[in-house]
Amino acid sequence: MPQASERAFQPFKNFELRGWRDVAERYDTAFGGATGQAIAPMLDAARIGPGVRVLDVACGPGYVAAAAAAQGASVLGLDFAAEMVALAGRKWPGVEFRAGDAEHLDLPDASFDAVVMNFGILHLADPDRALAEAWRVLRPGGQLAFTVWEPPPRTVPFEIVLGAVKAWGVPDIGVPPGPPMFRFADQAESRRVLGGIGFEDVGFVPLTITLSLAQPGDLFTIMLDAGVRTSGLLKAQTAVALNKIREHMQAKVAACAIGDGAEIRYVLPMPAVLITAAKPAR
Ligand SMILES: C[S@@+](CC[C@H](N)C(=O)[O-])C[C@H]1O[C@@H](n2cnc3c(N)ncnc32)[C@H](O)[C@@H]1O
Repeated sequence: MPQASERAFQPFKNFELRGWRDVAERYDTAFGGATGQAIAPMLDAARIGPGVRVLDVACGPGYVAAAAAAQGASVLGLDFAAEMVALAGRKWPGVEFRAGDAEHLDLPDASFDAVVMNFGILHLADPDRALAEAWRVLRPGGQLAFTVWEPPPRTVPFEIVLGAVKAWGVPDIGVPPGPPMFRFADQAESRRVLGGIGFEDVGFVPLTITLSLAQPGDLFTIMLDAGVRTSGLLKAQTAVALNKIREHMQAKVAACAIGDGAEIRYVLPMPAVLITAAKPAR
């Protein structure tokens, strides 16, 4: 029987599933360099090492699962988008990937030493339920580690795209209502939810992540073609508004230039938070 929150956000979940199935390859090229910067601290926090049983939830192209496997862990990567699972399997042969829903894990209780989720929680229709599922499949004493973006204006790519839509287009269209995207960056809220499930030792590690682009127009292109929520928002704008939004975004990105000549890059801060918690040993 679906919970009320799940039913309320089912159109959002359907939208996300369609979106991720569609963008798997383009997401990999566009955002893998940014989300990959969280892997090393996440694996450290989750105490990954030889023989540790790890579940990578919302694994996408499988970066975290592959890095954990390279450290000798026994890994399962899970994502609800079949195209992501297929992509991860092609990229990392030898690592196990499977289709599955973070909110309904088809896995036994207490079967993992660590559960990790890299920038997955902000895409879930029912993140509380996914955290409760992580708790269920962790063994007593097991570790949870997940990452979230800081909200705009600190996360510059989101600030730029949302600012451009606000200036030239119509916000709040094109995407069915879903949970607040940046909710778990709020430490009090994270502590409340994790503590309510029974997690202890909740910790927060700030991560300095950047999105590095080759051209000022790249941010518009990847937000339009390689994202899900931003893509829905942009595609719902009129052609005239979209052109203004593109120009606005290009000018903002151009202001983030670093280097010169052939070496020039456009480097946008994307600060994130690594949230860690433990299931009590008993
Ligand atoms: C932003 S990507 C993160 C991918 C990857 N973890 C990384 O480090 O780049 C979010 C992923 O969450 C997946 N996802 C969203 N909702 C899900 C759900 N309910 N169950 C499993 N995966 C889900 C999407 O298919 C997508 O691959």
